[in-house]
Amino acid sequence: MSNNWKPNSWRDKPALQLPTYNDAALLKATEEELASLPPLVFAGEARRLQEDLSAVANGNAFLLQGGDCAESFAEFNANKIRDTFRVLLQMAVTMTYAGSMPIVKVGRMAGQFAKPRSSDNETIDGVTLPSYRGDSINGLEFTAGAREPDPQRMVKSYHQSAATLNLLRAFASGGYANLNKVHKWNLSFVKDSPLSERYQEISMHIDKALRFIESCGINTENTPALKQTSFYTSHEALLLPYEEAMTREDSLTGDHYDTSAHMLWIGARTHQLENAQVEYIRGIKNPIGLKCSPALKTDELLTLIDTLNPDNIAGRLTLIARMGHDKVEDSLAPLLRAVKSEGKNVVWSCDPMHGNTVTSASGYKTRPFDNIMSEVRGFFAAHKAEGTHAGGVHIEMTGQNVTECVGGAEDIGDGDLSDRYHTHCDPRLNANQALEMAFLIGDELKAVHADKDKKNA
Ligand code: PEP
Ligand code: CO
Repeated sequence: MSNNWKPNSWRDKPALQLPTYNDAALLKATEEELASLPPLVFAGEARRLQEDLSAVANGNAFLLQGGDCAESFAEFNANKIRDTFRVLLQMAVTMTYAGSMPIVKVGRMAGQFAKPRSSDNETIDGVTLPSYRGDSINGLEFTAGAREPDPQRMVKSYHQSAATLNLLRAFASGGYANLNKVHKWNLSFVKDSPLSERYQEISMHIDKALRFIESCGINTENTPALKQTSFYTSHEALLLPYEEAMTREDSLTGDHYDTSAHMLWIGARTHQLENAQVEYIRGIKNPIGLKCSPALKTDELLTLIDTLNPDNIAGRLTLIARMGHDKVEDSLAPLLRAVKSEGKNVVWSCDPMHGNTVTSASGYKTRPFDNIMSEVRGFFAAHKAEGTHAGGVHIEMTGQNVTECVGGAEDIGDGDLSDRYHTHCDPRLNANQALEMAFLIGDELKAVHADKDKKNA
């Protein structure tokens, strides 16, 4: 194993964003309980995702990663899981067609419970309590009892993750992901959208393609790939007692895998080289991600790349840029240039959510859809300028009809936010906004594909 790494070696490092548990004995007992529970994913699945991501790193596939900012115990039900999964599939079909490349689908699901916070405390009407850190740590309710970190919440998160993953696996392989069905959902989205004309063309093309392959005798009966799909899970590797307890040695290779998800990432607040989260994640063999904010300097990024992916394996490391629409091109260019000139194999993905959070006049945390899309376009433009592959997007979204991000074709205004503002943390794209984004990303992917064709002509 890489130099002196152990699943618990993070404990010797300074740790940011971890809760302080007052009951040390209960914490220890909970960690032991988690360590005895079955893994949620297999090492072989994580390796398959790394293979899929290596195609992204090499410019031959695109990553779609999305889901809640924070999953919650209260919002846990089958319909919500199904609807988020369905929107991700719908997005993927459009993007696959537009970009003429496979879309690697990764949910921020089945484990996305722990949140970094900008402040340790929150004060309301003169009362100060610990900040809410996600349902695996404490409760959202503003009472001293709810805000006290409770180790047993990790066990509840584990079981909710297991149930979520079970349903996702059933959907992915049990017929729900049937390509014809997904396309029909898209047709009805297009029909009802105020922008229906814009989306008609690509939907009609997909329709023709599906009829063509059907006429050739390729159908869901004889070609299982048409009704199944690969779907992976991911979350931020923040709550290290949980991640350590879920870390297991793979009997085939002797390597350590974090079996709580296929992919784990390090957040923008915890990626300091000497920090505990970096120490933990460098040793696990799962594909990993690193959020890159405008504060990340080029040399710091290169050192982190060497630490996190010393063997320069394509597909191991995804750099998730979250710069903000006004900074994306300027902040990204030097990083893209340096990573390319050093010959580092990475996936570049765009998180257009976290750099575009604002407080609306009515006091809601929101994200303007136009700014989100403008960051995505800036991301594609920066890659075009540097001759690198715009490899993916990482978004906070839900399959529900919430009102959390302003704008989009339905033009959600500041005054509408209070209607259905349900997020436990950051504002998410609703189903229609997410689909609209997929069509707009489709335009970018189509242009990239046309450029490639021109070069190869
Ligand atoms: C997140 O992805 O929810 C998050 C907190 O992002 P970041 O670390 O980029 O701020
Ligand atoms: Co978030």
